[in-house]
Amino acid sequence: MRPRAQSGASDPVPSYLVSTGTAQAQTGTVCAVRDLVRTYPAVRGRRGAAAIPEVRATDGISLDVRQGEIFGLLGPNGAGKSTLVRQLTGLMRPDSGSVDVLGHDLVRHPERASRLIGYLGQESTALDELTVSLAAETTGRLRGLPVRQARAARDDVLEELGLTELAGRPLKRLSGGQRRLACFAATLVGERPVLVLDEPTTGMDPVARRAVWAAVDRRRAERGVTVLLVTHNVIEAETVLDRVAVLERGKVIACDTPHGLKEQVAGEVRVELVWRERAPMDVPEVAALRGSATESGRRWVLRLAPDEARAAVAAVTGGAAFAALDDFTLATPSLEDVYLALGGDAVRATEGLVKA
Ligand SMILES: Nc1ncnc2c1ncn2[C@@H]1O[C@H](COP(=O)(O)OP(=O)(O)OP(=O)(O)O)[C@@H](O)[C@H]1O
Ligand SMILES: [Mg+2]
Repeated sequence: MRPRAQSGASDPVPSYLVSTGTAQAQTGTVCAVRDLVRTYPAVRGRRGAAAIPEVRATDGISLDVRQGEIFGLLGPNGAGKSTLVRQLTGLMRPDSGSVDVLGHDLVRHPERASRLIGYLGQESTALDELTVSLAAETTGRLRGLPVRQARAARDDVLEELGLTELAGRPLKRLSGGQRRLACFAATLVGERPVLVLDEPTTGMDPVARRAVWAAVDRRRAERGVTVLLVTHNVIEAETVLDRVAVLERGKVIACDTPHGLKEQVAGEVRVELVWRERAPMDVPEVAALRGSATESGRRWVLRLAPDEARAAVAAVTGGAAFAALDDFTLATPSLEDVYLALGGDAVRATEGLVKA
């Protein structure tokens, strides 16, 4: 492995903040959230514009994130994920509740958050005028690294993420995915014991996404960094996350390992049907399946008991329906199925959850 900048005496994160003990690595809680509530006030409509009602964006959220864990927040648009992480990073004050990160009360002392947490917001525009290189170096400087260390850390991170060739380009002259990767790179400079990443891989191609996950994993393995990650990409999440909390309308509706969540729908079979043009609704067996299908274009996804799945496959592979069928697959449920099964209306209304 390539040598990377080591934290020296001038490391802005005091060493007592970073636990390295293995016992701690398995059991220690790095981030404890209790009963967090945040309400966006109602806005009166002006000049014919509709009024915006009050929104309770986080409605009594409690969570524990453990040392060295990659912890995911999943949930439909508007569930409160970004509002939650902004409160965790000291950028937004909760109405009530507490946030403890590595023993620091961040509701009382939000200014301490920047020493503990590397945060990548869902939208980052503050760095847009800078070049990739300067964005990374400036972040390091703001986090207290001396010039030489900031530059060494910058060069390491840009190389690690394959950004060296773009180093001289202003962020605003990059493609969406490149800009996102550059912002992620800047987040990593001047290492912090906790990373909070709000949809880090949105808009990225598969190579860039892998580079992000590899970088996250390396920091966890080498430094025991703890990661809180907001994502919509449930398929990716399944391979990356240690534990997941599913949010809906400001509340945690499930929290477990991806495996544990999948047990909730164990025993079911995922049946995916892809029609050539459209489903042959004149075939009664097909019409009967429609009620339990999640439709997206030509694709139907069903979760069925094993005997129902067998009957469904027999129905669509025999007779009139078969001519209309392009493809079908049977599989054990994925995290996406769990997510769809868990949610109420808000989740079901969100079709095509894999955004990235
Ligand atoms: N500045 C704001 N003023 C008023 N309401 C807001 C504001 N920001 C967010 N909201 C509302 O708060 C709720 C939670 O929003 P939030 O951005 O936390 O959702 P999210 O889970 O991050 O969604 P997404 O997946 O789309 O990023 C939504 O109902 C949203 O409309
Ligand atoms: Mg968000």
